[in-house]
Amino acid sequence: MGTQGTQGTQESNQQASAGGTGRRALLGAAVLGATGTVLGLSGTARAADSSRSGKGLKSLPVPTIIGHRGASGYRPEHTFGSYQLALDLGADIVEAGDLVPTKDGHLVCRHEPEIGGTTDVADHPEFAGRKTTKVLDGVSTTGWFTEDFTLAELKTLRAIERIPANRPHNTLYNGRWEIPTFEEVLKWQDEQTRKRGKQVWIYPETKHPTYFRKLGLGLEERVAKLLHKHGKDRKNSPVIVQSFEPSSIQRLNKLVDNPLVVLLSGATSRPWDFVEAGDPRTVADLVTRAGLREIAGYAQGIGPTLDLVIPKDAAGNLTTPTTLVKDAHAVGLVLHPYTMRNENPFLPTSFRKGTDADAYGDSFGAFRTYFATGIDGVFTDNPDTGVLARADFVNA
Ligand code: G3P
Ligand code: CA
Repeated sequence: MGTQGTQGTQESNQQASAGGTGRRALLGAAVLGATGTVLGLSGTARAADSSRSGKGLKSLPVPTIIGHRGASGYRPEHTFGSYQLALDLGADIVEAGDLVPTKDGHLVCRHEPEIGGTTDVADHPEFAGRKTTKVLDGVSTTGWFTEDFTLAELKTLRAIERIPANRPHNTLYNGRWEIPTFEEVLKWQDEQTRKRGKQVWIYPETKHPTYFRKLGLGLEERVAKLLHKHGKDRKNSPVIVQSFEPSSIQRLNKLVDNPLVVLLSGATSRPWDFVEAGDPRTVADLVTRAGLREIAGYAQGIGPTLDLVIPKDAAGNLTTPTTLVKDAHAVGLVLHPYTMRNENPFLPTSFRKGTDADAYGDSFGAFRTYFATGIDGVFTDNPDTGVLARADFVNA
């Protein structure tokens, strides 16, 4: 997996066991982070006002709390139950959603095309024959794939908890929600904005764009078409679009004016579009000053794995922060690293409490340490913890 663009993605998906190891708008946020000036409570209040007047990302509190797959620490990921709870818990942005296509060309919210781990598809005998093995970004993968189902068929499924060993309580909600479409998310965003009297932001991601383009299911045009249809394709629209494949962001840059973010997996990994194009560069090359300057030519931010901000040693303890925050800010890029989670196995070793895989460690300590690097925001499965940690940080 060392050369795959999905390295960070796989890390974030595997069930973990304890003991194991609008473009200009964003510049303001970057400057805030770069100077170490973080919006406090008054800043948050100002954010609410400026959101309503359409001032783009400058209106968001910094560090921004991004609900990863909703509030996936508490509900099965990428469901309206998860998205709704993320807002209720105070997330500034909801990652709604990771986007993959159906056979008939609709965009749905799943972390990856294979849906055996996040839906009850295995319990549907009518779909038993759809189980298959495919090579997905170089990895042999067995299961059921969204591109083999129509939207109507996918709507008969229900979401389940991906990592029950770490989140046993979340299985209470298995079977409660269906798979959302991106268009439903865009409508939900408007409804929630009206209901709450405050602009709701979303942060969709194009998943495996090269893989899907080769299947004749290009993602970017579909994303752009829906954003345009709903009047959300502008510089100050409350929608940030992200991808692990730089060419997907470059393509989007020609189609929409939304803020765009390039995700970065482990340093030795290669984005899958680079692999397909024969581009030998790795993420280590992209986080050089030259690499960041190039990204700043078509994107407004980066979403690095937390390890690119503070690497860990062999024991899983944090070491010295890299210069990534400073270097990215120097070229006007904001940083939204991923992913903070409360459970022991997902925390740096020194922040764990005991060895139970479903017990919380010192997540506040970890948030504080990462915030201190000057990052502009963070993806977290536990937005309520992130909001409290931010309040502690800005008031310290
Ligand atoms: O998009 C930020 C973060 O979600 C990237 O990781 O694998 O959870 O999509 P992943
Ligand atoms: Ca994602």
